[in-house]
Amino acid sequence: MTSPLPQQADPTEKRRFLKQLLLGASAAYLFAPFYAVWRYLVSPSEKRVPIAPLTLNGGDVESERLTFLRFGDKNVLVRRDANAVRAFNLRCTHAGCTVEWQDAAQKFVCHCHGAEFHADGTVAKLPATEPLEELTVRREQGRMILFDEAKQR
Ligand code: FES
Repeated sequence: MTSPLPQQADPTEKRRFLKQLLLGASAAYLFAPFYAVWRYLVSPSEKRVPIAPLTLNGGDVESERLTFLRFGDKNVLVRRDANAVRAFNLRCTHAGCTVEWQDAAQKFVCHCHGAEFHADGTVAKLPATEPLEELTVRREQGRMILFDEAKQR
């Protein structure tokens, strides 16, 4: 004769399942700090995808001394002076705030922690220790093209 009630699970099976569950949770708990450290150490710049070159609107850049534009994920200032056209990523190298160009003083200022940069992007005042990223602007076949490649200083 068969029993009408469903059979109860074997207590040793339950125990084995709970052990595996506890082991998995413990492993995840122990691994989490290593994952966080790994994410911190791997620079986002190592994961970045290069931005396609951008043809600058010659008219605007030729006539305006200052042109602000978005280039991929970067806020860029293209500045024209008597000698050249230069482009700077406005991301502060200290902690990533956006710097402001102060035309009267001819310098970049970061309002987050007070860093300042000279007009050529070099550091004028701490806490930033690295210069602003300067992007390459080349004139090709009469057009000005902005490239996502840091200029060598
Ligand atoms: Fe610019 Fe700190 S982020 S000074």
